[in-house]
Amino acid sequence: MHSKVLHEMVFQRKYLLPLLHYETYFINDPYDVAIYTLCKHKLYMDKSFKASAERIFDRILKDIKPSPAEVQDTTYRANSLMDIMGKIVPKDVELRIVGSISRGTNLKGDADIDIFMLFSKAYKKDRLVKLGLEYGKKAARLAKGTCEIKYAEHPYIRLYLKSAGLKADIVPASKIAEIGEMATTVDRTPFHTEFINSNLSDRQRDEVRVLKYFLKVHHIYGAEVKTGGFSGYLCELLIHQYGSLAKLLESASSFKQPLILDPLFKKEITDGERQKKFASNFVVVDPVDANRNVAAGVSTESLTRFMIISRQFVSKPSISLFYREKFASPQAHQLLSKFIKESGLETFIITATVPEKSEDVIFPQLRKVAGNIGDHLRKKGFDIYFNLPFVRGKSGIILLMAPRQRLTSRVLKGPSVFVADASRHFAMGHQKALGFFVSESAIHALEKAKHPTIVSALEDLPANMRFHKDINLRKSKVIHNRIPKEMEFDAYCELLKKITI
Ligand code: CTP
Ligand code: MG
Repeated sequence: MHSKVLHEMVFQRKYLLPLLHYETYFINDPYDVAIYTLCKHKLYMDKSFKASAERIFDRILKDIKPSPAEVQDTTYRANSLMDIMGKIVPKDVELRIVGSISRGTNLKGDADIDIFMLFSKAYKKDRLVKLGLEYGKKAARLAKGTCEIKYAEHPYIRLYLKSAGLKADIVPASKIAEIGEMATTVDRTPFHTEFINSNLSDRQRDEVRVLKYFLKVHHIYGAEVKTGGFSGYLCELLIHQYGSLAKLLESASSFKQPLILDPLFKKEITDGERQKKFASNFVVVDPVDANRNVAAGVSTESLTRFMIISRQFVSKPSISLFYREKFASPQAHQLLSKFIKESGLETFIITATVPEKSEDVIFPQLRKVAGNIGDHLRKKGFDIYFNLPFVRGKSGIILLMAPRQRLTSRVLKGPSVFVADASRHFAMGHQKALGFFVSESAIHALEKAKHPTIVSALEDLPANMRFHKDINLRKSKVIHNRIPKEMEFDAYCELLKKITI
């Protein structure tokens, strides 16, 4: 017992340090006693918090865990699809079901089937990708479904069988015996399934489900660029690392950065080397490939949101944190207009035409354009509170929300006064300025505002901002203080991802 606690302790010094303050006073071996105290302290915490947390998890599982009938049904569908695929692929291509349904960590009604086509090493990457798309499309035809091309490290097919409510990703990869032979990044996936299946208990798998649902409700589940959240595999590793969801939430409520986790040894790495290697403050080393950070796609915003909701849950375990009914509310438009009215914020919508390409391709571009426009407006002196890009069919929409502003002048920030030439050039380059002033050792110019309002600044965007790869804003008109009916629901959802209203 003692040594086990010691083992856990070493990686949780944050508990030790405050306790040491009190205990070193009269004890010879502070480390040991602190550990003992910690043990008592944690047992006490665990008892009350763990019990109420687990009661809540059990209640949620009733809603989100697939029933045995659903599992049977999914297995049947997956096998039928495997039969179809088996007729298409050559003998040297092995088919394997991977992803959450192969690990018992999928959510109810969310039985996405992940099928991998494992090509032998004789196939070069280009060829297996080309064949993979061909086989995937053929499977969609034979199954009488539809399909689209999706993009990860390489393209693959997403197949839809609407009649059966089924969605399947059909992904080509190389069949490798060990990770060193990896030819494409998805080659690791079968190893992930092996690792999770040999390391997670049934209870832990259920808690992965609860964690995924928790993150989904708060819009931070999913590794795609749009979300920048936690992937399914990352959820599995976090539960493995901390042992239980209650412990994970408890730890997450006081995460410190850098946070470097090594789930293979269930420890936290503090030597700083990995942080440098991955150039990130949040690293979860892939147990099947020490060169990969499974948390690479998690944005700082998603990580900190996770910490906030964990803190809320730990301080007051409540089921209401798992249910935010308002999100899919049929009254979305009323709630949106209520928020706009109460906040007094003005809204600005600009709409880009975009080609019919996958959202994975369009969204990152649209977000870049939205970011550039936001920066541009800030430079012009405007304050922007929310910048919400979203894709809707053939339109890329950028919704901006800002307080009412009418500018007569604006501040232009210049270089440090200590850089003699730079500040001289700055002053010479802005001879029409109303005046200059110094703030925090930099020279600033006060200029007459060219654009008094956000609308006029948006209508006069520089040409290079109106066109970026697939995003075309050339014909866009600004819609001011009106949200068209057909955009209301999406606008409301995007706003809710940013702010709890
Ligand atoms: N995968 C990965 N890196 C990614 C995306 C996927 O390594 N960025 C691997 C993981 O092993 C993952 C599997 O591909 O488990 C299937 O991906 P996906 O369907 O996105 O996740 P699931 O784990 O199946 O979770 P979900 O329940 O959301 O489908
Ligand atoms: Mg999946």
